Amino acid sequence: MADRQMKVLWLLHGVNLDMLGKRPVEHYGTVTLPELCERVAGHAAPKGFEVRCFQTNHEGRLVEQLHALARGDEPVDAILINPGAWTHYSWALHDALELVSCPIAEVHLSAIEKREEWRRRSVIADLATVRVSGKGLDGYLEAVDGLADIVGS
Ligand code: DQA
Repeated sequence: MADRQMKVLWLLHGVNLDMLGKRPVEHYGTVTLPELCERVAGHAAPKGFEVRCFQTNHEGRLVEQLHALARGDEPVDAILINPGAWTHYSWALHDALELVSCPIAEVHLSAIEKREEWRRRSVIADLATVRVSGKGLDGYLEAVDGLADIVGS
């Protein structure tokens, strides 16, 4: 049972983001996913957020996790998501995210709008109230601040 005095922020990562630390440094830096989750959790706690981290390389698994949140099987007050490459084409992810009625932040470590043509489009952009890209780990912290402003502490 969550301590409902704290808001629950789900930090969702999609495909290949478990490989952070081994991916091209010029785009993704050197931070690993466990380090990133720890930094986000440390930044979010004083803002009243308990952070729950979830990563999968299976699109359907992410969709099912979003269904669980949409059904209220687990508490959720805000979502911070980096879907990886699914960002650019997964309408299934779009439709699952749409089911969850809480503020959503979309974050990318790299500047997707300045990279290859196919990366410039995000199919979840219309669902995100906060969008940050190209700022590495700092972008996640900025997104947490944005969500805290919306959700309140
Ligand atoms: C990413 C950008 C995507 O284009 C890429 O497929 C990723 C990571 C980012 O964080 O910059 O896996 O979402």
